[in-house]
Amino acid sequence: MVSRVIPVDPFDLVIFGGTGDLARRKILPGLFRRYCAGQMPDEARVIGAARSEMDTADYRNFVAEAIREFGGGRACEDGTLADFLKRLDYVAIDAKGEGGWRDLAKRMRPKVVRAFYFSVGPSLFGDLAERLNTHGLTDDGSRIVVEKPFGRDLGTARQLNRDLAAFFDESQIYRIDHYLGKETVQNLMAVRFGNMLFEPLWNSQYVDHIQITVAETVGVGGRGEYYDRSGAMRDMVQNHLMQLLCLIAMEPPSRFEHDAVRDEKLKVIRALDPVEPHHIVRGQYEPGVEGAGYREAVEDARSRTESYVALKVGVSNWRWAGTPFYVRTGKRLRARMSEIVVVFKELNHSIFGDGKDHQNVLSIRLQPNEGITLRVTIKEPGPGGMRLVDVPLDMTFADALGPEGEDPPDAYERLIMDVIRGNQTLFMRGDEVEAAWSWTDPIIAGWEARGEVPKPYMSGSEGPGDAVQLLARDRRVWREVKA
Ligand code: BG6
Repeated sequence: MVSRVIPVDPFDLVIFGGTGDLARRKILPGLFRRYCAGQMPDEARVIGAARSEMDTADYRNFVAEAIREFGGGRACEDGTLADFLKRLDYVAIDAKGEGGWRDLAKRMRPKVVRAFYFSVGPSLFGDLAERLNTHGLTDDGSRIVVEKPFGRDLGTARQLNRDLAAFFDESQIYRIDHYLGKETVQNLMAVRFGNMLFEPLWNSQYVDHIQITVAETVGVGGRGEYYDRSGAMRDMVQNHLMQLLCLIAMEPPSRFEHDAVRDEKLKVIRALDPVEPHHIVRGQYEPGVEGAGYREAVEDARSRTESYVALKVGVSNWRWAGTPFYVRTGKRLRARMSEIVVVFKELNHSIFGDGKDHQNVLSIRLQPNEGITLRVTIKEPGPGGMRLVDVPLDMTFADALGPEGEDPPDAYERLIMDVIRGNQTLFMRGDEVEAAWSWTDPIIAGWEARGEVPKPYMSGSEGPGDAVQLLARDRRVWREVKA
């Protein structure tokens, strides 16, 4: 397979929070891999900015460590790291004060793309936006990149949008949802809109139901404080799962282009039904084979935050009315598995007289073992009449695409390069984020008003038993959570 890497324009990328966890784990190693792949031009420069007093040499050492720990990838040969590090610089900066801003301004070059990555808590977004402006660091072509959590409800999200809009046009704001940068998530669109086969059947006339699962084996780890204030609904459903649902449910955009795609996603969010309390299951993990329970991990014996949530969601429009979307996500589950499953309806008439209960099932595996499987019905081999059997037509990307399918670029690599290119298609627009909170807020408010306690589930299990009931009541079953 031929790699078609097109170098981006020369840029200055400033990473606020340049010594933070996200920078260390994702942004800097991702940039390095793009460098190795030949996508970063020689004139590209990355400036780390954070509170710590250190010089550029210290920062280069810090970045070298991060890259050694979190991976260079196969394309990076020995020696390239030293070359990459030459493109790095560091400025100690005070986000809420004046320290360091002049120094930063001096290092920015004219006539290159300027991008500012806010890899910091949302409480600093407004301060950074303002200081970038007052110190004259931005122009009309400059971009800012912000990370989730983008608010914790509609009110706070609106405020953040206003804080940014005071200094930047929407076309300059790149709100990252890293799920959109995952290769297989983009493949969802390729499968839907690049094949004649699926789109005519992609509606409630032919689709019985859809399942979206993002199951994790990790617990809340060292993020207990943040997570306990968020829970699975805010941390995963409002953003990542919502985005997946949108890509499956949206109408075909006229072009694969930023506003065309985002307009269609927004229409889906606005068509989501309010969720009935009996269509939601919240769970919280108990100690199990996988170690400590949730409440121990967050050091709050009375925490009512959910580490698992399963929902039955309706989309009220012509395409989907009557086809439920079952969505679930949780931590400390049996296996790491992200999958979208489209279960087609049973045959309306079988000419073989063996019952009609054969269903085509299209499963799109996002991670791990990225691939697509279509379950089809065929004749069981051998004599003895026409007996039917369901078999998978299986395509693992690693097998089908060779090394490139095996080692797809990390989501952050793709997204950062899109920022430099000025392509907003895989980023969330402000109104999308607000609409997602408008749908999520009443669900969370309902739990709080009812004082709901999440159902316990064993670490390392498939989640609470009530989630099984959620589908069983509709005579359906979840796909097994397995790696
Ligand atoms: C993050 C959440 O946005 O996504 C985490 O805050 C979660 O809680 C993570 O673990 C999952 O991302 P991925 O790429 O590992 O599926």
